[in-house]
Amino acid sequence: MKNYKIAILAGDGIGPEITREAVKVLKLIEERNDVSFELMPALFGACAYFATGDAFPQETKDICDSADAILKGPIGLSHEESKNIPIDKQPERGALLPMRRRYNTYANFRPVSLPKELAHFSPLKAEIIGEGIDIIIVRELVGGLYFGEKEMGVNKDGLRYVKETLEYDENQIRQILHQAFKLAGHRKKVLHNIHKSNVLKSSVLWNEILEEVAVEYPEIEVINILVDAAATLLCLKPTQFDVMVMENMFGDILSDQGGGILGSLGLMPSACIGDDKAYYEPSHGSAPDIAGKNIANPYSMIGSVAMMLENSFDMADEAKNVWAAMQGVFADGFSTADLSKPGSGVNMISTIEFGDKVVEKLSKMPK
Ligand code: NAD
Ligand code: IPM
Ligand code: MN
Repeated sequence: MKNYKIAILAGDGIGPEITREAVKVLKLIEERNDVSFELMPALFGACAYFATGDAFPQETKDICDSADAILKGPIGLSHEESKNIPIDKQPERGALLPMRRRYNTYANFRPVSLPKELAHFSPLKAEIIGEGIDIIIVRELVGGLYFGEKEMGVNKDGLRYVKETLEYDENQIRQILHQAFKLAGHRKKVLHNIHKSNVLKSSVLWNEILEEVAVEYPEIEVINILVDAAATLLCLKPTQFDVMVMENMFGDILSDQGGGILGSLGLMPSACIGDDKAYYEPSHGSAPDIAGKNIANPYSMIGSVAMMLENSFDMADEAKNVWAAMQGVFADGFSTADLSKPGSGVNMISTIEFGDKVVEKLSKMPK
């Protein structure tokens, strides 16, 4: 029997609610397969800061270091509550970015996917959804503006000023591009390269490296699109995209737009992959506006479990079953509040009920 250790970081806001449902699925996977999961819960985020003074305490680092994979719920506080924590200790700068840096999880895969049967979830017209949206955003996750040098202070004219730098070296760019090309090779063999080379030198270098890397993948068609135009096209013609690759900040913004065109950020799982370690998290945040109400959509968190099964534990078939179980719940006409507005024809269920239905479906599926 295979044994895997999984660090479980439930996080803040809706984090514990959606993590609970994801853990139910993990337990069922264990029952159905010759595998055992040692689940290791740990504090991470604002909850860790308030308990220990550190959003990513040493004990959590030790647990994550020893884990085969990490399942992470969203972290963070509302805009107002964040002010109670010094900026460098806030969960984003004090936990999330240090986690990405610690494990060098440079490749972030964010599926933006909606089958045509669920077109009614989307704010886009059915004719725009066509045969369905099926995009994977490949976001560089440990470089760019997020990790460049930063300065804040008062300049010689007595004015408060700020300086943040956007830095990449060619190796960082090359490694994420290889990931994107490889993924495109397993899919439709088209890669949309999202850039801003008309202004940013970082994009000029990015595109230069891309041309070098592309030589190794002659079967892949590359389509270059400026990031601002890509934002429009995601709304007007999302079905033209399959794999999209981009730097860190562009990926942050366009992936949330991805959630928008699907109808909810609750449909956005993700995988953050490094050479030695991977962690899995929803793309969205801690949703303080709906926390504690048992209404959050756990799809993003259960989908992150599916990505973990496939990428970290070589259980692609069970991963497919998890996706199918969630699609089955939707097909039966149920979803959480975000996707069951009055008049939508979708029956509203709670976070817990969604998790229970996924477990029920999955338990009936042949392995
Ligand atoms: P958010 O993603 O938390 O919420 C945006 C909107 O989407 C809200 O209306 C929310 O209710 C809704 N939403 C998000 N997830 C949902 C789900 N699973 N089901 C149903 N609805 C859902 O963004 P925000 O409000 O801008 O940020 C809140 C906090 O989260 C901030 O502190 C931010 O820094 C943090 N954050 C953390 C992560 C992370 O941990 N990876 C990601 C993004 C934001
Ligand atoms: C995300 C989040 C993070 C990011 C924040 C919370 C630091 O928005 O994972 O998309 O900007 O990367
Ligand atoms: Mn984001």
